[in-house]
Amino acid sequence: MGEITNVTEYQAIAKQRLPKMIYDYYASGAEDEWTLQENREAFARILFRPRILIDVSKIDMATTVLGFKISMPIMIAPSAMQKMAHPDGEYATARAASAANTIMTLSSWATSSVEEVASTGPGIRFFQLYVYKDRRVVEQLVRRAERAGFKAIALTVDTPRLGRREADIKNRFVLPPFLTLKNFEGLELGKMDEASDSGLASYVAGQIDRTLSWKDVKWLQTITTLPILVKGVITAEDTRLAVENGAAGIIVSNHGARQLDYVPATISALEEVVKAARGQLPVFLDGGVRRGTDVFKALALGAAGVFIGRPVVFSLAAAGEAGVRNVLQMLRDEFELTMALSGCTSLADITRNHVITEADKLGVMPSRL
Ligand code: FNR
Repeated sequence: MGEITNVTEYQAIAKQRLPKMIYDYYASGAEDEWTLQENREAFARILFRPRILIDVSKIDMATTVLGFKISMPIMIAPSAMQKMAHPDGEYATARAASAANTIMTLSSWATSSVEEVASTGPGIRFFQLYVYKDRRVVEQLVRRAERAGFKAIALTVDTPRLGRREADIKNRFVLPPFLTLKNFEGLELGKMDEASDSGLASYVAGQIDRTLSWKDVKWLQTITTLPILVKGVITAEDTRLAVENGAAGIIVSNHGARQLDYVPATISALEEVVKAARGQLPVFLDGGVRRGTDVFKALALGAAGVFIGRPVVFSLAAAGEAGVRNVLQMLRDEFELTMALSGCTSLADITRNHVITEADKLGVMPSRL
């Protein structure tokens, strides 16, 4: 293996190492995968307006998320079933995140339980929640996450049904029988049956509550005092509803392009959400973040931080905890360099004027300068 110089290189290594069914599950998007490609391409269409002759000998990337101080605005998104990538799975991710002094979000569908992840040691962690039809299951799980020291709930709201991921259908994707969805072990919900299409799609159809609505966001607040991040908002309308319904923050996400195809790239939807949020809650972004320049672009367009998904599972597959550490370090280094070359010494220095978007190029640009 030659020297790895950027995050994207881990994908090819993961592809070589993993069984096809598992690699395809991690890599794929919904249907035509238009949004999957667009999540990257939309970043590439945003250009910089760097400032020069500013003393950048000291750069501070530290920030605060929901009151928790972290070393940089780069966090880990929930991605399911990480032990398929590496035997250490979520343990390795949790350790790498706390070594980097940043936040890990644990998936409901992790192959390690909330208690197991907590046992890896101190660290700021969020718990991603899928709402099951059986609300007793949800209540129990949220309480367990609270007791295990998780600091927020990331409520995924873009998955009343699973998106159509054709690779998973062709491969008859199913959780390998030696693994379980550990948070549901003992509840008879930890295993995934084989199906005539995607085993995960069948599991979701059987267990996940399609009736989920804003009143359930309120309900969640009656069973937990943890702050709730609504994950999967991409419009101004839903941003306003999130504010009205007591969300502590929003994650602009299209689920890594795995749900509804032909939604815009998250970086294209970000400004609409930021404007509608009017500073009333922090707005985060995930989807296609692969470079420090992407992190800078998201912050310039108003994000309070970003989360990464696939780079974690691909680097896990390639090198376990060391791989995830390296991904976080490379993104950190690239982001620091981007700040320096743009003339920014703290996150507060990063402004809308440091980037130029497609909309700007269409002629509306100079008004804001
Ligand atoms: C995900 N994502 C996800 N989201 C969620 O809320 N719960 C989950 O269990 C999962 N599982 C999952 C598995 C895999 C393999 C992927 C790739 C993604 C979505 C994830 O949190 C995030 O929104 C995207 O991954 C971000 O996009 P990138 O960074 O993968 O491009």
